[in-house]
Amino acid sequence: MNFADRISEYRSRIDAALDRWLPNPEAKPSKLHEALRYSVLGGGKRVRPLLVYATGEALDLDPVQLDPIAVAVEVIHAYSLVHDDLPAMDDDKLRRGRATTHIAFDEATAILVGDALQSLAYYVLAADSAYDSTPEIRGRLIRCLAEAIGSTGMAGGQLMDLEAEGTELNPEELEDLYSRKTGRLIRASIMMPCHCRFDTTEQEFDRLDQFARMVGLAFQVKDDVLDVEGSTEVIGKPQGSDIKNGKATYPSIAGLEGAKARAEDLYNDAMSHLGHVGNDTESLRWLTAYIVQRNH
Ligand code: IPE
Ligand code: IPE
Ligand code: MG
Ligand code: MG
Ligand code: MG
Repeated sequence: MNFADRISEYRSRIDAALDRWLPNPEAKPSKLHEALRYSVLGGGKRVRPLLVYATGEALDLDPVQLDPIAVAVEVIHAYSLVHDDLPAMDDDKLRRGRATTHIAFDEATAILVGDALQSLAYYVLAADSAYDSTPEIRGRLIRCLAEAIGSTGMAGGQLMDLEAEGTELNPEELEDLYSRKTGRLIRASIMMPCHCRFDTTEQEFDRLDQFARMVGLAFQVKDDVLDVEGSTEVIGKPQGSDIKNGKATYPSIAGLEGAKARAEDLYNDAMSHLGHVGNDTESLRWLTAYIVQRNH
């Protein structure tokens, strides 16, 4: 059975884990708890959890050790989307085919959803019993995630994205921005499983890290291509949002064909780093192809 056939199983697995960790919607304050569930469940490709499980397959890890990582990266991702859609940021009203959180609820609730999801990610890593006998792994995971999403990572990248509106960046500057706002969390989704092993060689670690960097960039290039040539109905978010906001994107600096060519190069580069890694990198290879070929 190949990875494509296991995807729906993994998606059910991550959805069940998310459901277990998200607070009961009836618990007080129920408005916030309903908004948390609305923002996380019911939609989303779950690419970051899939990267966690695919890396786990390559490194022969027990999925029980991977579940908390998958939950942590997906709730951080959901938080980033809720804030990204706010009027102060991209000001979008549609996400995953339905109203964004600040439209379905209100802005204050959407801000607080992000706050609570960030907290939940660290709570899961700190509290899950999977690492009770390996506190060192728990510590490494928390550190890896924190480094990825803070001021020099995802949050900083989001600021750079806003500052770049209406300006023209060169490819190097644009890729630096991409690597932070999107790349760092994707990289963490691949490197956190690596931290679950004590016998990963330095060489394996470096190769996977290089692979992860390329995947992170490719993901955002493709996202920007879909903003131009996707349809709102299929991508589930407003087509043309980047153009509306004057965003610095690959299509804006290199044209649509230039952006597609860069995605292809990044794909090939990513693949080149997967030799001599782990046991079976078939799933990671499949998922990387999916990331650059997807239509939503
Ligand atoms: C969109 O991410 C935001 C970016 C980082 C480009 P996804 O395309 O993974 O969004 P969902 O989770 O599938 O909705
Ligand atoms: C989002 O980039 C990156 C993060 C949320 C960290 P975009 O603004 O391009 O994502 P979409 O297109 O709204 O999903
Ligand atoms: Mg944005
Ligand atoms: Mg956006
Ligand atoms: Mg986008």
